[in-house]
Amino acid sequence: MNRNVIIDCDTGMDDAVALLLAIRSPILNVKGITYVAGNVNLDYVINNTLRVVEHSDQKVPVYAGARMPLVPQISDDASSVHGKDGLGGLPFPDPQASVQKTHAVDFIVDTIMAAEQPLDWITLGPLTNAALAYIKEPHIAENIRQLTMMAGAVETGNVLPTSEFNVYADPEAAKVVFDSSIPKTMVPLDPLYHGGLLTKDDIQIISDASQAAWCDMATRIFKRSIEINKKLGRRAVQGKDGSVTPPDLLAVAIAIDPSIANLTEYTVQVETRGLETRGMTVVDRRVYDNPGRETLKNPVRIAFSIDQRKYRDLVLDAWIK
Ligand code: BDR
Ligand code: CA
Repeated sequence: MNRNVIIDCDTGMDDAVALLLAIRSPILNVKGITYVAGNVNLDYVINNTLRVVEHSDQKVPVYAGARMPLVPQISDDASSVHGKDGLGGLPFPDPQASVQKTHAVDFIVDTIMAAEQPLDWITLGPLTNAALAYIKEPHIAENIRQLTMMAGAVETGNVLPTSEFNVYADPEAAKVVFDSSIPKTMVPLDPLYHGGLLTKDDIQIISDASQAAWCDMATRIFKRSIEINKKLGRRAVQGKDGSVTPPDLLAVAIAIDPSIANLTEYTVQVETRGLETRGMTVVDRRVYDNPGRETLKNPVRIAFSIDQRKYRDLVLDAWIK
């Protein structure tokens, strides 16, 4: 039986391929997609999300969410890695469909509260919509099977040495969600350096195996992202030239099948005030007896490494079979 899921995203390049995986997966039934400002501003995100859904060849309703973080702040978007429009300037046709009238936060709350079985939830962007939904109706926590978030970093961040973009872009919202009793899995940046990649050969196989619109879109995005990373002078991940590590794609894959990841539970605090560490996800990995530990609530399941073969098979099976 497939699982119902709702997805919140800030559609840049890795969100796009992640959405294509979720929608094409035989395991998930995507009930709706909400989006938030993040990688680029909301107008680009709308356009990108609709274009992605059209390339998936399925009908999924799309809902607009927050235009700015809980505490408005001046911080850069991620257009340096996703291009000004968020999809690397690739000329995908304009969408035919339009967004729903309902606000994203209302859709999230209403859908979770009305679900007959606890629902899956995936977030791939800043946690603004998620926090607003929880603030509006904290009882959603009781009807969520698992929230899988691409969020945070344990060993090393990307925006700051300590901080990952989705948390850094709205740390106050992340704090609301991490401190909540929602059952949750954090997919930080770390597993991207430990198995969470697709190789040049994998990309070629997807491109050769199918003429489907979603395979075409995904491979063009992968190739564009390799070009952008080269231009930015970034080193090939894990030393594998031509490989890609889209964080959001990995988060969706883990939501589909958590057994591809090595998962351990810890408590996590979100740093909202640090001068050099704002947006840091502070993971309590102290090994000695910590007297305060038993009072710390709401453990977070964290993915540290990935079975690369299983990950790659999961993605290719969903797109090609
Ligand atoms: C995260 O930030 C965004 O740029 C990506 O879409 C991903 O969700 C990685 O830090
Ligand atoms: Ca994202």
